Amino acid sequence: MFARSALKTTTLRSFSTSARAERKVAVLGAGGGIGQPLSLLLKTDPLVTGLSLYDIRGAPGVAADISHVNTPAVTKGYEQADLASALAGAEVVVIPAGVPRKPGMTSKTPQNTNASIVRDLAKATAEHAPQAMVLIISNPVNSTVPIFAEVLKKHGVFDPKRLFGVTTLDVVRSSTFLSEVQGTKPKDTDVTVVGGHSGVTIVPLLSQTSVAKGVQGEPYKALVKRIQFGGDEVVQAKAGAGSATLSMAYAGALFANSVIRGMNGEKGVVTPTFVKSPLYEDQGIEYFSSNVELGTSGVEKIHSVGSLSAEEEELLAACLPDLKKNIAKGIEFVKNSP
Ligand code: NAD
Ligand code: LMR
Repeated sequence: MFARSALKTTTLRSFSTSARAERKVAVLGAGGGIGQPLSLLLKTDPLVTGLSLYDIRGAPGVAADISHVNTPAVTKGYEQADLASALAGAEVVVIPAGVPRKPGMTSKTPQNTNASIVRDLAKATAEHAPQAMVLIISNPVNSTVPIFAEVLKKHGVFDPKRLFGVTTLDVVRSSTFLSEVQGTKPKDTDVTVVGGHSGVTIVPLLSQTSVAKGVQGEPYKALVKRIQFGGDEVVQAKAGAGSATLSMAYAGALFANSVIRGMNGEKGVVTPTFVKSPLYEDQGIEYFSSNVELGTSGVEKIHSVGSLSAEEEELLAACLPDLKKNIAKGIEFVKNSP
């Protein structure tokens, strides 16, 4: 099901023409709602040759189960005390560890629990897998990515080309929701989403998609709102049992596959992701999600947002101040940490 054509963010095809390479992926938080299906999907990715599943509870069981799937990735599970072993030799580290949202909570402010978890996993990554590509799923992504970066900086191993906030679920949702409105196939309905990953910081660039032509006025506003607050739909429907897990696992596996294809030398792998970015640095915003070309060393090229409609200019104007605060909170958290 993996590997897709260049510039397509939401469609998968069944094989890749990329050069084969050993690619060991560690999943931290592998026993959770996202971690389990994500690990299963990674096991089915032909580009993944090793899987290291870590959680503070349950990972060996998940690994034993997944290891029976007849695909090449050698799969091992690690208990709480074995984080160093789980990270050893990992070239890609995917992090869905943390506490999910419940109805009534927003994902805007960094929850201290997740902030501490991500800080501690960053320390371990700095010590045991400093060269790895790190893909952060734990929320709030707008803050957890800066938290991870600050810890790597403290350890002198921060490489901005190798740290990614996973915003692919916003891209996947945009494709689904827009295709529902327009009656198109989701695989032909690619939408670039920029900004960050929560509420108004999520900015879908529908004007850049020919499929969205004609979606105006109230239907346009409703579509943008649904994309920005898609997470709420799932949190409410799950009624206290957590947030998006299955669609997130799909999105996380898709993004990991893109990163690995770039590492393997495939050209033209471009997808939105939240990275250290020069685009709005002059406004004090160090991290931003836009289309990024992925390559052998991670971030190859950061694309600008391109031309925006008047509505998108407004959405971006609403995004930037919020994003700036979220990033500052993450940085502040590490400053005040022991
Ligand atoms: P979950 O509670 O089902 O699973 C989280 C797992 O993390 C648990 O198994 C737990 O044991 C583990 N964990 C906790 N502390 C850990 C540590 N220090 N080291 C390793 N593992 C640890 O939660 P979930 O539904 O899988 O969500 C996980 C995170 O992903 C949440 O923060 C959620 O908000 C976020 N999320 C992000 C996106 C996105 O688009 N980026 C989408 C959905 C959810
Ligand atoms: C999502 O977009 O579904 C996730 O970020 C989870 C959440 O809390 O909204």
